[in-house]
Amino acid sequence: MQESVIQQTASFVKDRLKNAESGHDWWHIQRVWNNTKLILETETADGMVCELTALLHDIADSKFHDGDEQIGPRIAGEFLHSIGVDADIVAHVQNIILHMSFKASLGEVNFHSKELEVVQDADRLDAIGAIGIARAFNYGGFKNREIYNPEIPVAENQTKEAYKNTTAPTINHFYEKLLLLRDKMNTTTGKRIAAQRHDFMDSFLQQFYAEWQGER
Ligand code: ADP
Ligand code: NI
Repeated sequence: MQESVIQQTASFVKDRLKNAESGHDWWHIQRVWNNTKLILETETADGMVCELTALLHDIADSKFHDGDEQIGPRIAGEFLHSIGVDADIVAHVQNIILHMSFKASLGEVNFHSKELEVVQDADRLDAIGAIGIARAFNYGGFKNREIYNPEIPVAENQTKEAYKNTTAPTINHFYEKLLLLRDKMNTTTGKRIAAQRHDFMDSFLQQFYAEWQGER
């Protein structure tokens, strides 16, 4: 029963994300789903809730719906309800999706659950390391941002608004978000993997600046 619900959800998400932008396409979902299962090997949490949330967490991005933060949880809830998932599981999944994003975590956090911690870590892992670097430059390219500009300083103490409205070069995004994620990880497994991916980003930046200066 549980397996069938998860499979039906995976098919629904894969189909819905057929034409999604590449930052939140099916492959992102599949990586987050895999990260979730990896973390669940060493954490005690409700696997069903975690897997369903991993699959549904980016089903609709508020960025493309006039900032409507409720649209993702609503579509996820309607789908889970339609395949007969218990109302309390549906509500939990919806709550996690609503509270999961980095932007949400810049605001006041008034919801906690072990399952949120697991899936949030799984999602954050996909924003750092080699994949994180690729996603950041892909996003910056899509927005026609500069890759780097030494004259544009990094914004400190980002507020929710500033984070949303930035037009800064992509390298700045490392300091505004990517390098902060390691210390925000919730679970032991998440922390271990994040540390390794963080070091990789550090090496990348070191090499980047060396090449920028024209060093051999
Ligand atoms: P999330 O889905 O974690 O809330 P976003 O939707 O903000 O994250 O971002 C999706 C991907 O695009 C992430 O890999 C993120 O690092 C990247 N990204 C977001 N904003 C920027 C930016 N200003 N510059 C470069 N990459 C960005
Ligand atoms: Ni995501």
